[in-house]
Amino acid sequence: LPPLPAWPYPFWIAHRGAGLEAPENTLGAFRVGAALGWRAFECDVKLSADGVPFLMHDSTLDRTTNRQGPCGVLDWSSLSRLDAGSWHSPAFAGEPPANLEDLAAWLLPQDLLLNLELKPVPGQAERTGTVVATTVARLWAGRTPPLLSSFEPQALAAARAAAPDLPRALLLETLRPGWLRTAESLGCVAVVTHHRLMQPTLRAQLRAAGMRALVYTVNEPEEARRLVALGIDGLISDAVRTFDPRRDPRTT
Ligand code: G3P
Ligand code: MG
Repeated sequence: LPPLPAWPYPFWIAHRGAGLEAPENTLGAFRVGAALGWRAFECDVKLSADGVPFLMHDSTLDRTTNRQGPCGVLDWSSLSRLDAGSWHSPAFAGEPPANLEDLAAWLLPQDLLLNLELKPVPGQAERTGTVVATTVARLWAGRTPPLLSSFEPQALAAARAAAPDLPRALLLETLRPGWLRTAESLGCVAVVTHHRLMQPTLRAQLRAAGMRALVYTVNEPEEARRLVALGIDGLISDAVRTFDPRRDPRTT
């Protein structure tokens, strides 16, 4: 079997900061996750109209801010003034959206690690890959870099061109034809699949290709046990109070 890439990331990765406990993709969510002992975080990054990488899942502002409309038409100066917390609960009223620079400034001194999902607004895959990878290379210089992942090969290809040394992972919701060739041609070190796709055959295919196997989004202990038994390398979860991130199932 080919050697596996070195793997600095913890097994347990908190989804969107701290999943459901706090407003997703805000620094408030990362604070909650870190307080519960989580050392690695997945979050979604896209670009403002003026090209600032910031964290948000949806392609519109409607669900997670106090404003409506598509994400990619406002400059960061406007986005930064939105309330991205009230929709979740009064305790987080006024929590602003986070940009990548603020997140790095908060994570790095604490040695927390990141899985950054490139989630471009429509039509911006290439620009998002380029700008995010360039920004990450600058902010994380000399440190353990975020694992860059995306459902969009175009975003990963642009990230590779801009910063070839950053680790990349292809995200898969289904096993679309040619997925392995795509992951290999993008120089991916890992594939991150919907947890139900991760079955023994897929696990073996990834191992044979020298790639790490990660899954999203696992919130049930029984499903987590199944995946641990399969020998996966990482698990993204919303259930930040259900799982104990201090216990690494790969070593215990
Ligand atoms: O990165 C894994 C997972 O976050 C992908 O799905 O929709 O939660 O971003 P989604
Ligand atoms: Mg995501």
